[in-house]
Amino acid sequence: MEVGPSIAEEIRDLARERDAVVLAHNYQRAEIQDTADFVGDSLGLSRQAAATSASTIVFAGVHFMAETAKILSPQKTVLMPEPGAGCPMADMMSADELASWREANPGVPVVTYVNSSADVKALSDVCVTSANAVGVVRALDADRILFGPDRNLASWIARSLPDVEVVPWEGCCPIHDEVTVQQVLEAKRVHAAAEVMAHPECRPEVVDLADAVLSTSQMLAYAAESSADEFIVVTEEGLLHGLSKAAPGKRFVNLTPPMLCPNMKVTTIEKVRDCLRDTTGEIDVAEEVRERALAAVGRMVAIG
Ligand code: 13P
Ligand code: SF4
Repeated sequence: MEVGPSIAEEIRDLARERDAVVLAHNYQRAEIQDTADFVGDSLGLSRQAAATSASTIVFAGVHFMAETAKILSPQKTVLMPEPGAGCPMADMMSADELASWREANPGVPVVTYVNSSADVKALSDVCVTSANAVGVVRALDADRILFGPDRNLASWIARSLPDVEVVPWEGCCPIHDEVTVQQVLEAKRVHAAAEVMAHPECRPEVVDLADAVLSTSQMLAYAAESSADEFIVVTEEGLLHGLSKAAPGKRFVNLTPPMLCPNMKVTTIEKVRDCLRDTTGEIDVAEEVRERALAAVGRMVAIG
């Protein structure tokens, strides 16, 4: 019996034919991560999108990430295997709401998490990711900032930079915000020797229990470098695949119940193949919005 090429092989062949690069977020399904050209956090993926020489970017992630790739690389075709994959946090602040907030606080810099729409970025002074939020705000040298949409990341910036007044928008990630102190304490009870790594989208009382507060890719580096053998990973469970590759032999546990972002899991390897084959799911950003959003994203990339 003749065995056809695996879907992963089909994807690699199609990517070569179409001059495409496949980018995947750290929360994507394991088989997508294993097939992608680059797997990373929001900052790393933005950098790859800006730097790639490929004419097409296939983005396995959520909508704001593909939109950011298009903002940075307008001459490239950006495709999403599942264009309906959104980020609920990004929908918690609209451009109209931000415009009113800005107007009510004249002269106060607006710092926006990349988990936001292009329209919101276009009204912002600078963007940040979880990997560079504290560094970018420090570099602004402002006494007071407006920060949205994530109130938990706002709180992490505020406690890292006590001299800056961070005024938060009332948004959050439903997956990280739901984590309770009890869940983390229970994991610590069962895995007493484990270090706790938490994403800054968690609530402050959960962050308080962490040994390290990190972006997803920073967790990969931290786990590889730490002397600990076991880690409680307080972020979406997709990261455990990358962790086991980054630090083979070490043990990683998620919480009970596991943290799952349904929007990150809606993309399948079949959809990645189909989108490359049929050139579907193109992401576009109106040029006037893109130019203004680029100013905020570009400032972030320039700072760090
Ligand atoms: P990272 O940039 O740390 O990968 O986070 C993105 C995200 O959506 C976290 O929920
Ligand atoms: Fe958005 Fe949260 Fe999913 Fe990240 S984990 S994409 S912040 S909903």
